[in-house]
Amino acid sequence: MPEFTIRLATLADAEAIRAIYNYYVTHSTCTYQIELETAEERAAWMRERSEKYPATVAEADGQIIAWAALSPWKSRCGYAWAAEASVYVHHEHHRRGLGRTLLLDLIERAKQAGLHTIIGGTSSDQQASLALQYAVGFELIGTFREVGRKFDHWLDVTYTQLTLPVSLR
Ligand SMILES: CC(C)(COP(=O)(O)OP(=O)(O)OC[C@H]1O[C@@H](n2cnc3c(N)ncnc32)[C@H](O)[C@@H]1OP(=O)(O)O)[C@@H](O)C(=O)NCCC(=O)NCCS
Repeated sequence: MPEFTIRLATLADAEAIRAIYNYYVTHSTCTYQIELETAEERAAWMRERSEKYPATVAEADGQIIAWAALSPWKSRCGYAWAAEASVYVHHEHHRRGLGRTLLLDLIERAKQAGLHTIIGGTSSDQQASLALQYAVGFELIGTFREVGRKFDHWLDVTYTQLTLPVSLR
């Protein structure tokens, strides 16, 4: 039996999602956000989720210990078949298979929703994130040099992509 379950997130999960995320805002370059996210911002983000751009959570013993989401890649209509993936595992629960399971689940949801491709935009120093993406089939596209800055360092961003075998809808 798996030690956690995955389900769609609801508005009631917003605070748990925000707490997991804000740890990384403070401690990591995996997000280039620098100011802590507010409850209002995360609630607004939750209300934007849909079948095509869902948020999911991993739950164990009634606690949310990781979350994942698909977001629009760009707003213009012609980008409607591309999404960007996010996966955040609580910092005390790494390497238990949560990230892989959530990302594989997101890929299945993307296929069901008729998306054609998923893009990963990752700070190039985030080796865990890149290794996870390669492990589930994302391919390296390229690296933008010094497009981000956090903790007084210039940061490169590596783009990866997974193309899904789905027909247009
Ligand atoms: C990246 C992240 C989501 C990985 O989640 P996780 O639950 O710890 O990863 P998993 O246990 O599912 O690992 C799956 C695979 O990813 C790779 N991986 C994960 N963490 C790794 C690490 N620290 N170093 C190298 N490879 C790693 C491995 O290939 C691993 O397979 P293995 O355990 O069989 O070797 C997690 O480290 C995290 O939340 N980081 C901060 C947020 C972030 O960077 N999000 C962006 C991800 S798209």
